[in-house]
Amino acid sequence: MKQALAVAQDANEQLEKIRKDRWYPSFHIAAPAGWINDPNGLSCFGGHYRVFFQHHPFSSEWGPMHWGQVSSKDLVTWRREPIALAPSLEADAGGVYSGSALEVDGILHAYYTGNRWVNPENRDEGNIQVQCLATSTDGVAFKKQGVLIDEVGLANFRDPKVFAHEGTYYMVLGATSSQNRGQVHLYSSVDALSWSFKEVLYEDPREDVFMLECPDLFPLGDYWVLVFCPERPAPTGYTNRNTHNAGYLVGHWLPETGFEALSDYCHLDWGANFYAPQTFVAPDGRRLAFGWMGSFSIPVASRAEDNWAGQLTVPRELTLTEHLVLRSAPVAELAALRQGTQDFSTFTLGLNETKVLAEDIGPCEIELEVDLAATDSERVGLEVMRTPDSAHTFLGYDAQADRVFIDRRLSGNGDRSYRSAPYPGGKKLSLRILVDRGSVEVFVNGGLISVSSLAFPAEGARGLRLVAESGSIAVTSLKLHTLRSIWQETEVQEGVM
Ligand code: FRU
Repeated sequence: MKQALAVAQDANEQLEKIRKDRWYPSFHIAAPAGWINDPNGLSCFGGHYRVFFQHHPFSSEWGPMHWGQVSSKDLVTWRREPIALAPSLEADAGGVYSGSALEVDGILHAYYTGNRWVNPENRDEGNIQVQCLATSTDGVAFKKQGVLIDEVGLANFRDPKVFAHEGTYYMVLGATSSQNRGQVHLYSSVDALSWSFKEVLYEDPREDVFMLECPDLFPLGDYWVLVFCPERPAPTGYTNRNTHNAGYLVGHWLPETGFEALSDYCHLDWGANFYAPQTFVAPDGRRLAFGWMGSFSIPVASRAEDNWAGQLTVPRELTLTEHLVLRSAPVAELAALRQGTQDFSTFTLGLNETKVLAEDIGPCEIELEVDLAATDSERVGLEVMRTPDSAHTFLGYDAQADRVFIDRRLSGNGDRSYRSAPYPGGKKLSLRILVDRGSVEVFVNGGLISVSSLAFPAEGARGLRLVAESGSIAVTSLKLHTLRSIWQETEVQEGVM
């Protein structure tokens, strides 16, 4: 593997030299260059948070998968680490696919899917997917231990997520059944090395769902949450609008009796670019998650000329409400990214008025609270990354639809989708908005709903405006924070936008 890693690392460093930074994230994890998708192997090991990700180091398109890697002591400042895993075995010749990591007896175990193509010249002929292990004593360099679960003869069988529960190890996997239905399979093990099939934990009731990618099963309070990414329920109304969506069920799980869902399937995030989330437990017990912001179906704008594609979301803490809603909010640590704060305090934006909050602002965070009882504007709108040509991404709360939206129709570059989520209710609207160079994440009312999309501005100064439409907006609090870069050696140069 050493040689394959060195070749990949070198190619990636060459590509990094020609990366363009106009949209390259400043406070989100991304590869130095090239393509990324799913977060993998999320863990805290040896005093460092470890984040791995699906990575094609040779170009900004999906290709033979490697595991890229970064680490952090505090979830705020990150250090790039060398590429962790590269295809090098017969079993993973077609890619080191997604998986998870768990510390077992002081050693970090990375479980991943080895993919190989039946016919590498024609992928339509299918693949062979097996579950593999690589181990590490320092969390950075890995030694492959080979195949743990061999081929089971299914069209798709991948993305092992491993956890320990009451003295036994469990692994959930996504699968396509022989009847072409999306399933989550459950395996168990006493030593984390030798695994036996336990049961089909869950089968998606939707007939058009043929695969459940990247499943995750974890406890929150008195319940268990099953997260998965169904391929490909047809879009209906506002739901399943992306080709790749992620969602969850809340229920009970006991190893003896299985999983019983108590809630309906619900999107974990309603934006245009949120997929393959993975969770892990922080040392203090919090359940944290990262998702992938990218797209398999609509080429993201940075892919064409900028030599990178895809980023992760910010780390999010997951909690459960009494109504079994999975709340996801940026981890508290992210407040440390704030460099400067402008406090606009309380004010009313009058009928059809626009307030310029910033003429030109880079990566930032907006905390906006609005008294909806005293607001009659049809939308509480924010134009972010508004460039001199009037291009911008529009987001906010739509009172007529009672939804929170991100509208990219007038964004400078890239996809033009409109995405929205049901407003969770209440007269006190609270929006927390994270704007990076090429993305927007909106957290509503403490994270009851989130909407995350890539958004690529046009050239020039990036303004920020609050807009009232056919009515006024009663702002009870508005703070604007500039955010610093997450990278240890600040490699994202200032002033290149
Ligand atoms: C989800 C996914 C996984 C797979 C990986 C390959 O985005 O398709 O199921 O392991 O990406 O890159």
